[in-house]
Amino acid sequence: MWKTIGDPIVNVSSRYSALNIDSKLMVGFNNIELISDRAPETNFREIAECKKLWPDHAIIASLMVDTRERWHEFVKRAADSGADGIELNFGCPHGMCERGMGSAVGQNPKVIETIVGWVMEAAEIPVIVKLTPNITDITVPARAAKKAGADAISMINTINSITQVNLDKMCPEPYVGGQSTHGGYCGPAAKPIALNMVQSCAADPEVNLPISGIGGCSNWKDAAEFIALGATSVQVCTAIMHYGFRIVEDMCEGLSQWMDSKGYKTIEDFRGAAVKSVTKFENLNLSYKRVAFINHETCIGCNLCWVACEDGAHQAIDLIDPEANGLDLGPGRLPGVRIPRINEDRCVGCNLCSLVCPVEGCITMLDVETGKDPITWKQYQERLARGEVEPIPAHP
Ligand SMILES: Cc1cc2nc3c(=O)[nH]c(=O)nc-3n(C[C@H](O)[C@H](O)[C@H](O)COP(=O)(O)O)c2cc1C
Repeated sequence: MWKTIGDPIVNVSSRYSALNIDSKLMVGFNNIELISDRAPETNFREIAECKKLWPDHAIIASLMVDTRERWHEFVKRAADSGADGIELNFGCPHGMCERGMGSAVGQNPKVIETIVGWVMEAAEIPVIVKLTPNITDITVPARAAKKAGADAISMINTINSITQVNLDKMCPEPYVGGQSTHGGYCGPAAKPIALNMVQSCAADPEVNLPISGIGGCSNWKDAAEFIALGATSVQVCTAIMHYGFRIVEDMCEGLSQWMDSKGYKTIEDFRGAAVKSVTKFENLNLSYKRVAFINHETCIGCNLCWVACEDGAHQAIDLIDPEANGLDLGPGRLPGVRIPRINEDRCVGCNLCSLVCPVEGCITMLDVETGKDPITWKQYQERLARGEVEPIPAHP
């Protein structure tokens, strides 16, 4: 995917900022960079050179211009350069939208339809419409792209953000001479938003377009998740900026090994396999129950699960004295040190303890056989109104 080509712009200094969490750097990344600052002729010439050197590899030219004539011109120049496809950048949340481009387009379905229509008049190679996540319902612009004849959609571009404030300068980063501006957020922390939007579009029969999944993809597992939620391809930006192009080899190898372990021969064997498991809340089964199970052999006694459950969840973990409760935890345990124990009657199966536990696999969530027939919220409300079921008692 080529850096977006358009009328060259002038960038500012500095341009990037990040959300670091403890020692983990660039969990989230933010930029106020614009489209390519190089001349279109330079970009198109280099696309042609790359295609000549690597004819078997696809190159997609990302474009962003304004008028119908300019779109026609750039679409033709992209095709003439040998690009295999075009991506329309309707997503940049900064700089270009003030000029009526980028996310200013992606937030307006009517304008999407118009511009995609212009592009399709001139396009002889596939056209992907890249969508902005800075919108309430991503399926609305996706449907507009479909209606105007796009061949595919890609998502997400970056999310409006301020990652941090420099408290000495009383100004957010990236710092530009005493000022800053809202930048585009991406990187690992953006993946859940991207997955959510990819699934929404994959599940919408009115969209029904191939989807290129983007946002926080950093390893093979992320890529597999995008594909399982319906993506036909995956793009990587921040992780490459962080670790370099070589990580793609690890991604391909990891994905391939995982596919072998599952017996998947092609991407199509599992593409979209998780889409239908996402449903409306009202369709979830109220009879399903899970509870936490703590493996005391691996528990290090940090009691983070107890703190989280006590202060932030359902007070369903007791701290008990193992000896007094007849538990022999083997050698190496300090006598009198209390350990966490799940109170199954109080546990609502919220997962919090398993999420805060620092020991992998120490707290697992186990299915409970309730003996109750499945019932959804909707069915429960209907049957309750007809007096066919007793009200489910409120949590104590
Ligand atoms: C420094 C930087 C520059 C970017 N430039 C472009 C661009 O020119 N055109 C575009 O469509 N998206 C651009 N993006 C957005 C990425 O292509 C991608 O949609 C987004 O960063 C989410 O993916 P990621 O989490 O893998 O970075 C840029 C992102 C970054 C961080």
